[in-house]
Amino acid sequence: MSRRIPGHAKGDCQELRKRLVGELREQLQRIMSRARAIAAVLAGSIVGWTVTGARAEGDPAYGEYLASECSACHPPDVTDGVIPPLWLLPTGYFIDVLKAYRSGLRENPAMEAVARTLGDEEIEALAAYFAYLREQKGGS
Ligand code: HEC
Repeated sequence: MSRRIPGHAKGDCQELRKRLVGELREQLQRIMSRARAIAAVLAGSIVGWTVTGARAEGDPAYGEYLASECSACHPPDVTDGVIPPLWLLPTGYFIDVLKAYRSGLRENPAMEAVARTLGDEEIEALAAYFAYLREQKGGS
């Protein structure tokens, strides 16, 4: 990484980042195939929530369960300059961005792969969990 080609240093860095994200994505796909099996089982119990109108709030406990996957890449406390801690993001933004990744409106290979595995219920649950974390950490 210390190798510097004049005028190309930035491009090298982007290549490296692309490769790293590619590797992370492969790992993620392995994790996700396992997670999907569990989620399929859980989905049955979630339906109860969504039809009773609790949906706008989301279920923070389910969100916490889902969030264990996010921590493979997202740091718990401080941003590394590329990937932010998720509890820092305002709830409305968090939801909109995940939907944008899911539809491909916002592009990022890793996050598009993640978001495509999430239904609206999952996104709401994650939002509720991270909002709860933000409160715990004294944010607003
Ligand atoms: C494989 C690694 C990886 C995993 C797993 C992952 N993310 Fe990300 N996430 C990223 C990267 C890389 C970015 C920055 C992408 C960009 O710049 O668009 C990002 C960005 C985001 C953003 C936008 C942040 C911003 O400041 O706009 C949100 C929201 C997000 N992730 C949510 C999640 C959630 C929720 C999960 C778990 C369900 C998750 N991510 C799991 C890698 C990951």
